[in-house]
Amino acid sequence: MKFFIDTANLDQIKEAQDLGVLDGVTTNPSLMAKEGITGKENIVNHYKKICEIVTGDVSAEVIATDYEGIIKEGEELAKLHDQIIVKVPMIKDGVKAIKYFSDKGIKTNCTLVFSAGQALLAAKAGATYVSPFIGRLDDISTDGLNLIAEIRMIYDNYGFSTQILAASVRHTMHVIDCAKIGADVMTGPLSSIEGLLKHPLTDIGLAKFLADYKKGN
Ligand code: G3P
Repeated sequence: MKFFIDTANLDQIKEAQDLGVLDGVTTNPSLMAKEGITGKENIVNHYKKICEIVTGDVSAEVIATDYEGIIKEGEELAKLHDQIIVKVPMIKDGVKAIKYFSDKGIKTNCTLVFSAGQALLAAKAGATYVSPFIGRLDDISTDGLNLIAEIRMIYDNYGFSTQILAASVRHTMHVIDCAKIGADVMTGPLSSIEGLLKHPLTDIGLAKFLADYKKGN
């Protein structure tokens, strides 16, 4: 299972990279704005900085919502760095653009996916990744993890190579449950990765080992 961090915060990206378990980064316009990164030039420079920190895939989202605009923007983004994955929304022109990018060998991440049907369409179009937003489904009393399970079943039925990128992950249990279901990737905040470290029995056990070592020395 690949671990992506879902942030545009460079310090957090560095921290996750330093832990040695990071496989990539996802961003979106909201995450960029949260870090005060606005304007096309600044956003593009920020993508380049992220690519210098990590060795894996970095999703960069298009703003255009029409076919020609998505193609133009996506091709520009793809040229920035070979780690860039063009993030395209699940809309009609987005699906057409994903097919175009797929034929050209440009990798894509189909974002804002909330149903199995949308995920099937993204795979048919040749998306590299599909991003079902599980946290936002949970927010409206709908089982986000069930969507991951449905997509896993559909993709396995037909051998689709599109990778399931569980997005809008909010906490460690989302990560663990996604791993059980067989999501290929999860993207979440740093806390969802670092939270996996924690267990009180580990802390208690380590304190005892160290105390016993001191007794004998
Ligand atoms: O990867 C999608 C993500 O950025 C959305 O997360 O927490 O805003 O629902 P959230």
